[in-house]
Amino acid sequence: DGKYTVTLVPGDGIGPEISQAVQDIHAAAGVPIDWEPVDVTPSLVNGITTIPKPAVSSIYKNTVALKGPLATPIGKGHQSLNLTLRRTFGLFANVRPCRSIEGYETPYKDVDTVLIRENTEGEYSGIEHVIIPGVVQSIKLITKKASTRVIEYAFEYAKSNNRPKVLVVHKASIMKMSDGLFVQTAREVAQKYPDIELGTELLDNTCLKLASNPELFSDVVMVMPNLYGDILSDLSSGLIGGLGLTPSGNMGEKVAIFEAVHGSAPDIAGKGLANPTALLLSSCMMLRHMGLGDYAEKIQNAVLKTIASGPENRTRDLKGTASTQHFTEAVIKNL
Ligand code: IPM
Ligand code: MN
Repeated sequence: DGKYTVTLVPGDGIGPEISQAVQDIHAAAGVPIDWEPVDVTPSLVNGITTIPKPAVSSIYKNTVALKGPLATPIGKGHQSLNLTLRRTFGLFANVRPCRSIEGYETPYKDVDTVLIRENTEGEYSGIEHVIIPGVVQSIKLITKKASTRVIEYAFEYAKSNNRPKVLVVHKASIMKMSDGLFVQTAREVAQKYPDIELGTELLDNTCLKLASNPELFSDVVMVMPNLYGDILSDLSSGLIGGLGLTPSGNMGEKVAIFEAVHGSAPDIAGKGLANPTALLLSSCMMLRHMGLGDYAEKIQNAVLKTIASGPENRTRDLKGTASTQHFTEAVIKNL
């Protein structure tokens, strides 16, 4: 029996398998958490994808949730369930750290990036229409309010994680108004943080630098509009070995939902092949957020040690031969 209750959204596809792995490893590590599983299968209310009330109340009550990957519901008119969750709870900052895993070799060494993605608007505002047949318009919505919120979050993150620089990634050379407002807002917020340097970098140039010299970003917190963050975070994952390894936290004023960056991988679902690492590391971010950093360290170290211990203890996405179950047991041994 735990001191804390956390809402668990097991998710679709490989979600239930990797969520089970997380629960088993937490139990073995003695983490004082009771899980409260909820069903988030949505319904359409006036054309809007809506999450069931019990799930919403559970998340508001517990203020912390761990979420497996969710498939977008099939059927007419549904919006993405992942986005619905972000919108429902006002999860304005999506924090995506990405670190090389010692003992798992990629062409890159010493990757240590932190990317903070605006999570409620931008290219994801969902405002699209046909102007005349053959001409469509998708609105990229940028507000000063949401920009300020996420940029302040980035500065606070930089401060508490000893990163001396916030880097705004943008394309204000082309999107003069929307990205221009985002960059201008960053200049204003930066006034309140004299000890933290503000840098700006064009999105394309950032991609080039990340792919050629990722170590340049080790003391930086990147912050950017929604779609840029979606793309750059996958790029960053690619540097360290793929989406099976990268965690994330969706941070709001009242609640935080932690999730892997990857999808539900229906092609391998139910086969015991999935890598639970990304969800495990997301659960470690969650534990730190809850003030349970010691447990986070313990679990994270065991995960890293297991991956480093050789292909027989790694899942297939990491050129290994381990099943989800074998990997889970190996992590438990390494706790
Ligand atoms: C992510 C995912 C989501 C996104 C999808 C599943 C809607 O790719 O979390 O990065 O585009 O934000
Ligand atoms: Mn993505």
